[in-house]
Amino acid sequence: MERSLVLIKPDAMERNLSGAIISRLEGLGLKLVALKMLHMDRALAEKHYAPHREKPFFPSLVAYISSAPIAVAVFEGEEAVELIRKAMGATDPSKAKAGTIRADFGLDIEHNTIHGSDSPSTAEKEIKLFFSGDEIYDRRR
Ligand code: RTP
Ligand code: MG
Repeated sequence: MERSLVLIKPDAMERNLSGAIISRLEGLGLKLVALKMLHMDRALAEKHYAPHREKPFFPSLVAYISSAPIAVAVFEGEEAVELIRKAMGATDPSKAKAGTIRADFGLDIEHNTIHGSDSPSTAEKEIKLFFSGDEIYDRRR
């Protein structure tokens, strides 16, 4: 079954939106199989966003994502990656479709409320950065 890693970013935590976001993703029919809070350190932030290392926004992005405790979740289900990306909306909230999480809650292109893995293979790598195998539950039983 496909899995995706979700980060509820500091701007969302600050506004008490973690429950609303988890609820929207559960509403897609996806199962929550792992969940914790974590204050990412710089090293973990740099690993998680390594594909963006050369981008001009990288230092600011790393500082932002490690600025406060966040909620980290794994969702599982058919097409989990694509379903979550659609529910998130475009990276820039001002360009996100109405009714998406970023359109409804995002503040700007950096403070955009949620991260979701961009492919099933990225998801597997990202999940390993945040969770050990015994922290991920089998909800099919
Ligand atoms: P994410 O990885 O967080 O799910 O977001 P995404 O796929 O929609 O966007 P991506 O291109 O992977 O960018 C990662 C995060 O970097 C910040 N960003 N800032 N200032 C900028 O131009 C800029 N562009 C991207 C955002 O926080 C974005 O989510
Ligand atoms: Mg991305």
